[in-house]
Amino acid sequence: MRETWVVGAAQNRFGKMKESAREAATRVSMEAIRQAGLEPKDIGYTFVSNCFGFAEHQGHLGPLINSGLGIPHVPSATVESACSSSSAGLHEAFVHVAGGFADAALVVGVEKVSHLDTLTATSYFAVGADYPFETKNGATFPGLYATLASAYAQQFGTRPEMFGAVAIKNHANASRNPHAHFQKEITMDTYLSSPIIASPLRLYDCCPFSDGAAAVVVAAKEFVKSPVTEPLVVRASARAGSVTDMHDRPDLLGLPATRLASEKAYRQAQLEPKDIDFVEVHDCFTIAEVLAVEDLGFFPKGSGTHGAVEGITARDGKIPVNPSGGLKAKGHPVGATGAGQVVEVFEQMNGLATGREVPKAQVALTHNVGATGGSCSVHIFSRR
Ligand SMILES: CC(C)(COP(=O)(O)OP(=O)(O)OC[C@H]1O[C@@H](n2cnc3c(N)ncnc32)[C@H](O)[C@@H]1OP(=O)(O)O)[C@@H](O)C(=O)NCCC(=O)NCCS
Repeated sequence: MRETWVVGAAQNRFGKMKESAREAATRVSMEAIRQAGLEPKDIGYTFVSNCFGFAEHQGHLGPLINSGLGIPHVPSATVESACSSSSAGLHEAFVHVAGGFADAALVVGVEKVSHLDTLTATSYFAVGADYPFETKNGATFPGLYATLASAYAQQFGTRPEMFGAVAIKNHANASRNPHAHFQKEITMDTYLSSPIIASPLRLYDCCPFSDGAAAVVVAAKEFVKSPVTEPLVVRASARAGSVTDMHDRPDLLGLPATRLASEKAYRQAQLEPKDIDFVEVHDCFTIAEVLAVEDLGFFPKGSGTHGAVEGITARDGKIPVNPSGGLKAKGHPVGATGAGQVVEVFEQMNGLATGREVPKAQVALTHNVGATGGSCSVHIFSRR
């Protein structure tokens, strides 16, 4: 395998986009390619992630984006893996570049849903669950993650304030991130007085519906003679799956796909959790961050909330978690989320995360989950 680098990464502000998904994706792709010191003609393959193109009557974005970049002849593929779509796209790009099938590849994720009302967006998003067993019977993602939160709280005696600490931390981080959907801090009072969405989850336990676009350029070390940015060396690109429907799982106290993907990633990188300086995890709901930090090996089972409660996962803590603000507050434009996590790592390692720097940014991990854990990607990056 060839040593593979992330040489460019760009995104727009998550939240509400005026432009179409196609326009936003093309624009951030161009920014990422320029940032890498490359030109569109250097791209050998484009991987596009966009789950809800039908909301704009537009699928098959790859050739449209490539045409906008002036490279219509370049092959493209849509990579869909629910909320983990663009990290799955990154994995495909890694395989192509490391395996010698392309010297440089573009990964771009985009979503535009802000023109939909909450009910419609909720029903669209629910297609990522198991239709006959879950969605058809009224399950939605807030409901499914509320089931995980209930099981966890019942087993470990978790109080609302402990989930609230995760939300407060992530809103504080997002308040320093110009890319974030929500750029305001919240207090425990705000958290506790917010409405219940799906018991026990409150408004501030949930990620919002966000528009957004993010792009990452991956290239072989030997292709990038003199990098113009500090490249991220891809030390591990691992994916795993698990049964989608929750009733078939042995327990609801973790996501098996996270455990499997992270075990593979640590093995590939020959690193352990103690070697990681900071992480971006998939916190679509606060319970998801709690489960992630346990399943990734940073906290023992049952103590994942301690990270936020005791400041260990704060931006200046021992293991910063979601310095970007995470899905909770930076936002969750499904197709763009995984690529957006890499943008945060890229900015942290390139001194571009002004005002929200983590104390040490040498080795980072990103964790991106599809639905309630049917799929998961874990990537590990380091400086050269
Ligand atoms: C939580 C949720 C139901 C709120 O939707 P809603 O009640 O229709 O809220 P609205 O869009 O009407 O917004 C009302 C206010 O709350 C804010 N808001 C909306 N969602 C928010 C969230 N998740 N966190 C914080 N604030 C939120 C809005 O900005 C708005 O604020 P304003 O009045 O100051 O402008 C919705 O955001 C949701 O379903 N989120 C989960 C999305 C999801 O499942 N994604 C997939 C995960 S796997």
